[in-house]
Amino acid sequence: MKVPFLDLHPQIKSIRTHINAAFARVMESGIFILGKETEGFEQEFARYCGARYCVAVNSGTSALHVALLAHGIRFGDEVITQPNTFVATCEAIAYVGAKPVFADIDPVSHTLDVAGVERAITKKTKAIIPVHLYGNAADMNALLRIARKHNIAIIEDAAQAHGATYRGKTIGSFGNTTCFSFYPSKVLGAYGEGGAVLTNSKKMEKAIRALRDHGQISKHAHEVIGYNYRIQALQAAFLRVKLKHLNSWVALRRKNARTYNALLKSLSANVLLPVERPHSVSSMYAYVIRCRRRNELASYLAKHGIQTQIHYPTPVHLQKAFFHLGYKKGDFPAAERCAKEILSLPMYPELTDGHIRYVASHVKKFYEA
Ligand SMILES: Cc1ncc(COP(=O)(O)O)c(C=O)c1O
Repeated sequence: MKVPFLDLHPQIKSIRTHINAAFARVMESGIFILGKETEGFEQEFARYCGARYCVAVNSGTSALHVALLAHGIRFGDEVITQPNTFVATCEAIAYVGAKPVFADIDPVSHTLDVAGVERAITKKTKAIIPVHLYGNAADMNALLRIARKHNIAIIEDAAQAHGATYRGKTIGSFGNTTCFSFYPSKVLGAYGEGGAVLTNSKKMEKAIRALRDHGQISKHAHEVIGYNYRIQALQAAFLRVKLKHLNSWVALRRKNARTYNALLKSLSANVLLPVERPHSVSSMYAYVIRCRRRNELASYLAKHGIQTQIHYPTPVHLQKAFFHLGYKKGDFPAAERCAKEILSLPMYPELTDGHIRYVASHVKKFYEA
């Protein structure tokens, strides 16, 4: 048997007629960038997330970039985030000339350790970017308390957390701005690039709308130097189709996670299963175990047709691109330890029980051997 890490085909098949109709609608309209499809998606996604405004852009990285700009973050400012994230979180901070400052993580949720954040705050700190990694919500109440106390902004990186909840409320409006990616592999993914910023602030929404489209506040009126970060109408139209299925896809991911948990729980001497903090219901973007002899296990599974991934093998503070920040090995023990132990097993809504049983049986055989 072959178990791919991710297979988008069964999902495309299940919604193909609606996707084809969306494609035809955009072709008929002759509007390929922004337009009514984008406005429709923005309204629907804002409503889904419980935020007042949504501005769709052309990637999650662009979403983070314009959110930082709209908050006025610039050269000399510091932005606290976690080192175990996709590099884009930190690149966006660097794009505006600010300095990424790392705090360690809670190794259970893989999200920011609140005490570490508090220790990292200086007079230069202007924002915190919690990453809801793997779909696990960061401890937003605690982070919001710190942000209020120090008068700093919270920009959530929710690239992996569509449909996740924190204390019963959907992720999308806890911080001042929340950024999503619609990269195809995401819980809500486009068929190309896409992203969005959500906010409850009219002022932020206006600033982000302008930044996304060459700084225009109306036709030919360029108030600031902006970017071409516009989303394609086709992607917005596809996302409108897919948004209708988001809750059921998250439910299927969570069901798959429960199946894995049940089959792997006997391996507790070698494998730590994902644990949800009581405040968080994960979107289960990734099913991430922590395990002994991780690299050997990954090779063994690959030999038996099972694809796995590591999200992420090198924390950002140890990436060459960020050496100039002056961090070194040992600075963030929890993040570094997790980076050595984590393994993401195949996870997508359409993964079958047969796939999961096959994966679990090979994880077991590996440790029994
Ligand atoms: C945590 C995180 N932040 C940011 C991004 C960047 O999003 P994009 O690839 O859409 O630019 C991603 C996804 O790739 C991500 O997983």
